[in-house]
Formats: sequence, C-alpha cells, structure tokens
Amino acid sequence: MNRITTLDEFIIDKQKDFPFATGELSGLLRDIGVAAKIVNREVNRAGLVNILGLDGSTNQTGDEVKKLDIFANNKIIEYMENSGECSGIASEELEDFIKLPSKANKEAKYVLVVDPLDGSSNIDVNVSVGTIFGIYRRVTDHKQECTIEDFLQPGNKLVAAGYILYGTSTILIYTTGNGVNGFTLDPSLGEFCLSHKDLTIPEYGDFYSINQGYYLQFDLEMRRYIDHCSDSKRSLRYIGSMVSDVHRNIIYGGIFLYPVTRKNPLGKLRILYECNPMAMIVEQCGGRAINSNLERILDVPVTSLHQKSPIMLGSKHLVNEYEEFVMKYRPQNK
Ligand code: AHG
Ligand code: MN
Ligand code: MN
Repeated sequence: MNRITTLDEFIIDKQKDFPFATGELSGLLRDIGVAAKIVNREVNRAGLVNILGLDGSTNQTGDEVKKLDIFANNKIIEYMENSGECSGIASEELEDFIKLPSKANKEAKYVLVVDPLDGSSNIDVNVSVGTIFGIYRRVTDHKQECTIEDFLQPGNKLVAAGYILYGTSTILIYTTGNGVNGFTLDPSLGEFCLSHKDLTIPEYGDFYSINQGYYLQFDLEMRRYIDHCSDSKRSLRYIGSMVSDVHRNIIYGGIFLYPVTRKNPLGKLRILYECNPMAMIVEQCGGRAINSNLERILDVPVTSLHQKSPIMLGSKHLVNEYEEFVMKYRPQNK
C-alpha cells in the first residue's frame, strides 16, 4: 500500500520549494486545515446540538443568517486569533473586517478572506455545504495593524485560495498558485489525506449549473446559452451551494453560472470571498472564470468588502462558448 500523505506533511514539503519562505503561509494553511476540522465536526453534529435554524438576523448582503453560519464564522476567527499568522479577517458574516489583537497577529504578513459557510440554505436539509477562503499578502506596513487596503486587492494578488466541501466525505482543496491539490478527511485518523493530486478540470463537460428557476429574469444572451446547453443534451445539476456545484464541475467537467437577474442586477455572489478564491482554483485547474462583461474575474478591481459580481466559471470550452453567445446575442447598445 502507498504511504499516505497528510495535509500538514504536504504543506511542509511544498515549503521546501521556496528557500526563503519563513513558514508563515504554511502555518496559516495548516491552521485553516484545523479550523476546517472543527467546522466539519459541528456541521456533522448540527442536528444534535441545536444549532440548526435561523439566527434571526440578516447579513451584509441581506441573506438570512443561519446559526451554523455564525458558529463557523466564530470558530474560524477564534482559531486565527490564536494562530499568530493572520493579521485580519474579512468575512461574509462581518460588516467590516476585523483586526486580530495579539502582537504576533498584528504584525503578521497575511490577511484572510472567508465565506465561513457557503450554501447555508442547504444546512437544515442535510445537503452539502462548504467553506471558501483566500489569503492575501498585506500591502501596508506589517509592523502596523492591517487596513482596508490589505483586503481590497484583485483576485490576481491572492497568494493562496481554497475550499472545504462538507459532503459525503469532507474534502479540502487548495492552491498557492502552482497547481491544485485535494485532501480527503479520514475520520478515523482525524487527518486530511492527499487524495486528488494535481487536480485538473476537463476542457469539455456535460454539466451546467445555474438556478434555471430565474430563466425569465435572465438577459437574452443567457437565455440563449441555457437553451443551447439544453439542446446539446447537457445535464442540469444545481445544488445551490457554489462550493458543491463548482467541485462537481471540476471533477466531471462543466460550467457554473450565477448571472445578473432582474432581482440581483449585480449578481448575487460576492467577489472577495466567493468569486475570487473559486476563480483562482478553477484557473489553476486549467479552467476559466469571467463575469458578464467577459472580463477575467481575477482582474476585476475590488472596491468594497461585500461587492457582488456575476460569475461564469468552469471548463474552458464551455466558458468560451458562453462568451460566443454573449458576443452574438447581446444588444449592441448594452
Ligand atoms: P451563502 O450560503 O454563503 O450565502 O451562499 C449561497 C450562494 C451560493 O453558494 C449559491 O451558489 C447561491 O447562493 C444560490 O443562490 P440561489 O438560491 O439564488 O440560486
Ligand atoms: Mn456563499
Ligand atoms: Mn456563507
């Protein structure tokens, strides 16, 4: 039997490729791995410990907040507070970013952006949810506390990104810009073990993922593209957790689309902690991620923490095809 490689071993091993690395990024990634195990434990027992249901509030972008969203958010912050590698956190569940108070954290080189629990509407019905994260190197003096500029960086400045999918098994996928690797949690060992080495997305694919219930709210070009997917006998698969839907498309090949709608004229997903990390992963797997202006998601300027963006990402051929539909059907004056 081949010897297993744990996430921690893998991260340490990768650090050797960078002779001047100080180990802080590796430390931060390992801390995220531990925080993920804690969130995983609670997601699995949510029904038992009475943290299902609504918290009674709405978050920055108007979504109803589930108790488990807040729990995951608090656990991640708590873990980072004690780690010393992360200077601040911007999260879907926080109106403003927070600075981590300890001296080591204050002077850390990195900040974290996170969607602590993605797909919350699925929690109460036992369907897969996820966590999305991205890490930026600070642009301000790291002898001082972090500032908003450290967070408002385009996705092309991410030094690492990843997601955790709490599904039939729990898997952590991450990249530091040099390919993508995936680790499945072995519950008997309590370790993430390397299971998807050098992950690549198929260039073509037979799946499309979109909330087709909004069909009549989409632009003409999007409706024509959906018709084309249907005409091509592609399968529609939509869980309603971006992490799960994108993960399927990475493994089997496909496209995920969350376009503008009449209700959400800027799209629904948040660029900083949803679109950018997922776009970096997909690109690093060999796919493409663009917005409805056909701009590369990772190059779009980020001007506020909860900025929204339409997004289309997945297998290269399918994203290219969507682009052709926009060029063909979008009215000239738009
Ligand atoms: P979150 O639970 O973090 O707010 O994200 C939910 C997102 C995303 O995961 C999913 O793709 C999308 O919302 C689903 O939205 P619709 O219900 O509008 O399709
Ligand atoms: Mn989300
Ligand atoms: Mn969320």
